[in-house]
Amino acid sequence: MITCKGKSELLKMERAARIVHEALAECAAACRPGVTTEEIDRIAAQGIASRGGKAAFPGYRGYPKTLCISINDEVVHGIPSPTRALKAGDVVGLDLGAIVEGYYADAARSIAVEPVSDAVKILVETTHAALLAGIEAVRVGGRIGDIGAAVEAVAKQKKYGVVREFVGHGIGTALHEEPQVPNYGPAGKREVIREGMTLAIEPMFNLGGAAVTTDPDGWTVRTKDRQPSAHFEHTVVATARGPVVLGFGRYASEAILAGAPGAHEYPLPVAVQA
Ligand code: MF3
Ligand code: CO
Repeated sequence: MITCKGKSELLKMERAARIVHEALAECAAACRPGVTTEEIDRIAAQGIASRGGKAAFPGYRGYPKTLCISINDEVVHGIPSPTRALKAGDVVGLDLGAIVEGYYADAARSIAVEPVSDAVKILVETTHAALLAGIEAVRVGGRIGDIGAAVEAVAKQKKYGVVREFVGHGIGTALHEEPQVPNYGPAGKREVIREGMTLAIEPMFNLGGAAVTTDPDGWTVRTKDRQPSAHFEHTVVATARGPVVLGFGRYASEAILAGAPGAHEYPLPVAVQA
């Protein structure tokens, strides 16, 4: 069943998303050579707890940590470890979820640990651009397939592999709700988008082929050809006047309350200096 959320629910999700973005920004700032992924996980946990949220991932299907950190050929669901340190040239995916009063938000971003190759820089920028294109396609009365078609079109321009085994999702009182939100089309297919539908849109693009495999740890998903991958995710609500990206504080809250358009102009630097 797909649930459409009202204002009071959306404002809780907005608070959860705000916490996720602030904690993710702290994690991103910590992505420097020599820092272990376990240390970044601790920053994520502290970032959520200190803001009054609850981490969404610990215990989810037995997941052991707060953050997913996926480096280079790892696509999603990399597990933080005290023995894994970042190094210059890495592309690091940070994926985090939080709960406020029973309502979830989920967001992810890839960040380059400079200096990185131009190919990786363009991969990261393009995956982010595809997320924005997918968000733009969220239109009441449109179809879920419109989102994937918009995302996929951006990948095609660069001949990137689009991961098919993992998809975006509805979100609300659970991390994963219906419907599935694939990163591929065709447009005009799948469920009708209705007012108040909350969707986690999350393109995963590979520099090489689309194929992925899961490690023996049961979690870490990596590209079959071991080429780098990037991942961005936002929690978005469909409103009558356009999409609103949750988590940008006063702006999104006012947009929700006013039923206003959700221009998604927000700060999101994708690279840090080593
Ligand atoms: N953000 C991921 C998603 O959208 C969830 C990570 S799986 C977990 O599906 F186990 F870590 F929660
Ligand atoms: Co998600």
